[in-house]
Amino acid sequence: MNRLICLVLLSTFWIFPGEGYDPCCAQPCQNQGVCLSKGADAYECDCTRTGYYGENCTTPELLTFVKTNLKPRPSILHHILTHYKWIWDIINNISFLRDAIMRYILTSRSHLVSSPPTYNADYNYKSWEAYSNLSYYTRTLAPLPLNCPTPDLPNAKQVVERVLVRKQFIPDPQRTSLMFAFFAQHFSHQFFKSDFKKGPAFTKALGHGVDLGHIYGETLERQHKLRLFKDGKLKYQVVDGEVYPPLVKDVQVEMHYPPHIPEDQRFAVGHEVFGLVPGLMMYASIWLREHNRVCDIMKQEHPDWDDERIFQTTRLILIGETIKIVIEDYVQHLSGYNFKLKFDPELLFSERFQYHNRIASEFNTLYHWHPLMPDNFQIQDQLYGHHQFVFNNSILTKHGIRNMVESFTKQTSGRVAGGRNLPAAVQGVAVNILEHSRQMRYQSFNAYRIRFNMKPYSSFEEMTGDKELAAEMQQLYGHIDAVELYPGLLVEKPRPNAVFGETMVEMGAPYSLKGLMGNAICSPEYWMPSTFGGKVGFDIVNSASLKKLVCLNINGPCPMVSFQVPDVKYESSENVNSSSGHSTPNNINPTVVLNERSSEL
Ligand code: HEM
Ligand SMILES: *[C@@H]1O[C@H](CO)[C@@H](O)[C@H](O)[C@H]1NC(C)=O
Ligand SMILES: *[C@@H]1O[C@H](CO)[C@@H](O)[C@H](O)[C@H]1NC(C)=O
Ligand SMILES: *[C@@H]1O[C@H](CO)[C@@H](O)[C@H](O)[C@H]1NC(C)=O
Ligand SMILES: *[C@@H]1O[C@H](CO)[C@@H](O)[C@H](O)[C@H]1NC(C)=O
Ligand SMILES: *[C@@H]1O[C@H](CO)[C@@H](O)[C@H](O)[C@H]1NC(C)=O
Repeated sequence: MNRLICLVLLSTFWIFPGEGYDPCCAQPCQNQGVCLSKGADAYECDCTRTGYYGENCTTPELLTFVKTNLKPRPSILHHILTHYKWIWDIINNISFLRDAIMRYILTSRSHLVSSPPTYNADYNYKSWEAYSNLSYYTRTLAPLPLNCPTPDLPNAKQVVERVLVRKQFIPDPQRTSLMFAFFAQHFSHQFFKSDFKKGPAFTKALGHGVDLGHIYGETLERQHKLRLFKDGKLKYQVVDGEVYPPLVKDVQVEMHYPPHIPEDQRFAVGHEVFGLVPGLMMYASIWLREHNRVCDIMKQEHPDWDDERIFQTTRLILIGETIKIVIEDYVQHLSGYNFKLKFDPELLFSERFQYHNRIASEFNTLYHWHPLMPDNFQIQDQLYGHHQFVFNNSILTKHGIRNMVESFTKQTSGRVAGGRNLPAAVQGVAVNILEHSRQMRYQSFNAYRIRFNMKPYSSFEEMTGDKELAAEMQQLYGHIDAVELYPGLLVEKPRPNAVFGETMVEMGAPYSLKGLMGNAICSPEYWMPSTFGGKVGFDIVNSASLKKLVCLNINGPCPMVSFQVPDVKYESSENVNSSSGHSTPNNINPTVVLNERSSEL
């Protein structure tokens, strides 16, 4: 009931009860019922398969009533999954229980994503154009109809300055490392690749998912320029005995570098903007080495195969490795769960699940995790400010991959939720995202909470958990239902000891899991050893981990590598000054340093 009242409030806020507006502006249809206008003052709600009926789809069917009352709140599920470690230690070891829970997580999350996709920024009703035009990001909530009144929104720059920009660095209590932050940026830019020439509603990444276009290039032409055409491999160069991506001048692919960058610092990779920060180029180098390493293995397994077949099979193996690492290392870290997540496509073979994905604009918006970035980057004993760090590939070759990895593993990222932790150096990105979401007629933060099965916030204090921040937000937005998606996510009260608030996780997890498991390689048709060049390749996929990805691709002893900063103070003077030669083999027990997962290898 409480929820209904909030919904009515939400609707009335967006219109004045005047005439001449589309009756669907008031969003009268609840519970994902679809509104159809019939002239200027009549509408119809289509409640088909919503589990509700009535004029506005507000009356639950009996089964819906029972289900909604039995279903635990997200906050309760989250609490259970992040506590009671001793119980989870047992459950994690009982394979049918672990499988059942993982299956439940996958299905309950991915069912929140519309599939096949429905709307886009220009179509708030179903249409073949919206379905079939892959140049658009899809939209989970339809854009507000064009002729609807919208509330006066605060100046975007003011919002950013008053509640988003960092005053003083707030470390993430989950101890997320920069190794994680740059993985996030590197991984996500394969499918978040806005085509700003067409507008923020458009994407250049037509694969709409994990296709590794950031390694191999979005077009066939680019891919061919990056390939060696020998044994399936990619082109590379050797600097100080280490393998790095080739130079732009040698492969002739377009990369975005400012004019002052010298030729021998212009590395060329699949994604045009990966020269932006050495963190991206570090991962690009690691994946390039991994590709060529796997090619060698394939060549050995199949001496009869030509370049093309080795290349294509290796690409599928790397897609599999990526999904494995993202679920079992990356999402595992983010979730904070004591339950051990599992990448196993077979879990879904008995379920109704579409092997298809379309990237949503809202997913892109919520993934702007720039507060993860610190004010300075400490690599070995050197401190780089943002200005020295961006477009500076020489940092990578100067320190080498192993030292970059180790330094990024030791440095803590910033907390994302809770407000005021966005580095001033990237505040322009936040202003853009606000302006773009207005241009694309996003619905409110609270509307998204309802869409993803959460109760809308009823006050600024409930949303932020902080009096001062609440007052500032109130001044900016006036009404809680006017708060926009992106600032809502960043000022939201973080969950206890967590990097994110509730909404980031409850929205992000469905998009993420759907995108990972909806990949073609996870379908019954593909998921078998022969797809990956036989048992050897399939094993590479099924045993992939962040630690192996790094350590199999550098010479010498394995550095510290983790998405979580080890719970030991490495910053102590003793370690800093003895660390000029990190090659001194692990004086720290690696199983303490790496998260539990890696130690099982
Ligand atoms: C110092 C590091 C970083 C810099 C300088 C930076 C800078 C930028 C810039 C200039 C844009 C273009 C946005 C625009 O103008 O609208 C952008 C987009 C974006 N950034 Fe970052 N960023 C950094 C780190 C990160 C990290 C760690 C993440 C984590 C996930 C991230 C996620 C994104 C996403 C999702 C987009 C949207 C991409 C698109 O739509 O094409 N960024 N960033
Ligand atoms: C449906 O919503 C409209 C507009 O919000 C309202 O006027 C009407 O009373 C509602 N109908 C029912 C049955 O609740
Ligand atoms: C779980 O199983 C592993 C090996 O399969 C074993 O080493 C470990 O002790 C088990 N843990 C518990 C809590 O039973
Ligand atoms: C997709 O839509 C855009 C904008 O309307 C249009 O310019 C483009 O040609 C469309 N693409 C295709 C393949 O139809
Ligand atoms: C780039 O990094 C190098 C260290 O490799 C540093 O000496 C230089 O000052 C940096 N460049 C800029 C423009 O800050
Ligand atoms: C390391 O630091 C300690 C004190 O902080 C100092 O006594 C020692 O000489 C330093 N060692 C080196 C190799 O610089």
